[in-house]
Amino acid sequence: MARIVILTGAGISAESGIRTFRAVDGLWEEHRVEDVATPEGFAADPGLVHRFYNARRRQLLSAEVQPNAAHRALARLEAALPGEVFVVTQNIDDLHERAGSTNVHHMHGRLLTSWCRACDARVPTMGDVGVDSVCPQCGVRGSLRPDVVWFGEIPYGMDVIERELRDCRIFAAIGTSGNVYPAAGFVQFATAMGAHTVELNLEASLTHSLFREVRQGPATVVVPEWVDDILADV
Ligand code: APR
Repeated sequence: MARIVILTGAGISAESGIRTFRAVDGLWEEHRVEDVATPEGFAADPGLVHRFYNARRRQLLSAEVQPNAAHRALARLEAALPGEVFVVTQNIDDLHERAGSTNVHHMHGRLLTSWCRACDARVPTMGDVGVDSVCPQCGVRGSLRPDVVWFGEIPYGMDVIERELRDCRIFAAIGTSGNVYPAAGFVQFATAMGAHTVELNLEASLTHSLFREVRQGPATVVVPEWVDDILADV
């Protein structure tokens, strides 16, 4: 069981060139969240939703987007403490894995897989998907949807996350605004289970007062420093 549980959000990937969700204009990459990140939005206009995630996927796979020093620091922590580090990310990018983390749980799904509603398979997806795409597993046309947990849907693997939080010694939240539950409630659960809690964020999150320790700054600065401090302590 992991002794250090790390929740990450959009802020850890911001310095890799991926925009966070809650910009001042309330839009996500020029779209209303209800249109592109809800089951109702997908039912109303699946073509638009596919195009939206195709654009996100192309950006993720472009040469400009690479893991940054914060992703790499978490991989270094896992390598130094094998079996003791569990990353639960709200991000749908694969930057933790590319940096070398292996124990990563994508609670809001992944951009590089699609979900077939006909056969329930998760299929690797590196290219564009559309309303006419065929599932490579079952051959059904038009059955693929983004493998992304939308508003109103239940995050993946809550049982696994709860088990990890129950036993952790340290709980860290990195680059997340504390707006979206259940992730925003993990700090309270970890506290109740006796963990030390730390927030690492550019600015105070909505839930910062629930953390024992707060470290403010860009993830590429504060995360490597925090990892150095943890490793100096063991
Ligand atoms: N370093 C550290 N933190 C940063 C940086 C940075 N370079 N840049 C931005 N941040 C912080 C912001 O201050 C903000 O608190 O990251 C946080 C990002 O918040 P959100 O955009 O709300 O992202 P997140 O918390 O991951 O959103 C949660 O909401 O839309 C849904 O499902 C989607 O997973 C997402 C969920």
